[in-house]
Amino acid sequence: MKKIAKRDFISIVDAGKSLPLLLNSAARLKNDLSIDGGHLKSKPLKNRQIAMIFEKSSTRTRVSFEVAINHLGGDSLYLNPNDIHLGRGETIGDTGRVLSRYVDGIVYRAFDNGMVKELAAKSDVPVINALDDVEHPVQALADLLTIRERFGRLKGLRLTYVGDGNNVCNSLMLASAMSGIHFAAATPKQHEPPQRISEYAASIATGTGARIEIVNDPEAAARRANVIYTDVWVSMGQEAEREEKEKALGPYQLNSRLLKLADRKAIVMHCLPAHRGLEITDEVMDGNQSVVFDQAENRLHTEKALLLWLIRR
Ligand code: CP
Ligand code: NVA
Repeated sequence: MKKIAKRDFISIVDAGKSLPLLLNSAARLKNDLSIDGGHLKSKPLKNRQIAMIFEKSSTRTRVSFEVAINHLGGDSLYLNPNDIHLGRGETIGDTGRVLSRYVDGIVYRAFDNGMVKELAAKSDVPVINALDDVEHPVQALADLLTIRERFGRLKGLRLTYVGDGNNVCNSLMLASAMSGIHFAAATPKQHEPPQRISEYAASIATGTGARIEIVNDPEAAARRANVIYTDVWVSMGQEAEREEKEKALGPYQLNSRLLKLADRKAIVMHCLPAHRGLEITDEVMDGNQSVVFDQAENRLHTEKALLLWLIRR
């Protein structure tokens, strides 16, 4: 039987009061990259196996987790649902019960947040949400580290998200609320983030001094922003909505005209992959205010910190 104290990371809120510690740990691990290409000599995950179930495509999350696990001295097993019985109807709960007998943690990218919660409920080992339809919490960790690196702080900054009120927006809103960042999402009315998430974020914000705003005017929201963030208009699994979304979201493009309204020193963020020419222009994505590739790199460092927090004993 496993002896580890079981802890999951389904929502960014699961980081709780440990959020700053996780960011500090990630920053330290990032500096360690100069030593032996990031491989930790102490091998804190030696003899630890992490299963990675991915129902959707991934470049950053898959590769950064595999490399993070390797750098920490552990092993990863990539599982395509179509190669395991999950794709043939074995329940996610039974899958979790079985995997818990072999591995020390499970990274899961799923279509349905309910499936991630069910896996966590039925597994004896930590479960990490690697993106679902409601949240992308590992992305939010990397986003906070990137913002903190650029500004030296989080509290009191103004972050404006423009585009679709999706999983990335939800985690970023909750992460902002936890960190004292003033968050504004500018989305079309019909693509606002779910009210229960913005209400939850607002309730967290009362304890940190953050403000949470959901608006429909991208220009008003962009004014004086320190960080301006966007994501794809059509998330994985929403392909049937493409036509409507591309039409509705056209006025929310992150282009140089919108960026000019933000603070002169504002940074541009995108979780990637980007659809250049749709939610963001080449000029902005490749411009000197863009930190999108630092963000992508920080996935590796924050995931190492997360794995150590959840799995090391
Ligand atoms: N940002 C992100 O999660 O990218 P992938 O879909 O490539 O993992
Ligand atoms: N919102 C996007 C993020 C991809 C990393 C999606 O869910 O497809």
